[in-house]
Amino acid sequence: MPLEFNIINYNSPEYQKALRLREDVMRKPLGLLLSEEDVKDDGKRIHIGGYYNDELICGCSLRIIHHKIAHIYSVFVKQELQNKGFGQRLMAYAENYAKSQGAKRLYVEGRKAAKNFYQKCGFSSCGLEYIDMNIVHQDMRKDIA
Ligand SMILES: CC(C)(COP(=O)(O)OP(=O)(O)OC[C@H]1O[C@@H](n2cnc3c(N)ncnc32)[C@H](O)[C@@H]1OP(=O)(O)O)[C@@H](O)C(=O)NCCC(=O)NCCS
Repeated sequence: MPLEFNIINYNSPEYQKALRLREDVMRKPLGLLLSEEDVKDDGKRIHIGGYYNDELICGCSLRIIHHKIAHIYSVFVKQELQNKGFGQRLMAYAENYAKSQGAKRLYVEGRKAAKNFYQKCGFSSCGLEYIDMNIVHQDMRKDIA
């Protein structure tokens, strides 16, 4: 399938589009909108968009914490296109991007509901489960060295 990935510039019109989709997928089903807290570090993160037939359908953000560790945040796929393999391809792109920046380990603060997804992407649980936004979360990590 013709899925292409681009790096989205912070605060660009494309970033605003990605924010709306992120909100639709990750906040509105919880009866919430993106908060200032949700986006406060976006200027320090790399934003990846996945395009299917030129339409933005998925995305995530990435931050190289230092040269060996990268965190992945806000992984989302448009609702009607979930479970078609796009999420896994997005994670593979993010992983390769992080590797190209020298990262040797990835971390994600995953929702427990998506644990199986992250395991399919090669991540393992680390630490205890915790609650954020009334949802059980589980940190996951993957060595990519
Ligand atoms: C989680 C999410 C990013 C996965 O993307 P996706 O495109 O739907 O996933 P894929 O089709 O690439 O799935 C890959 C594998 O993970 C599994 N999987 C996907 N989403 C899952 C979920 N929520 N729970 C359990 N397993 C899941 C799929 O069954 C698939 O396994 P298979 O190959 O054996 O069929 C996407 O469903 C999503 O945006 N969900 C809502 C937001 C969210 O929960 N984001 C993660 C927050 S930490």
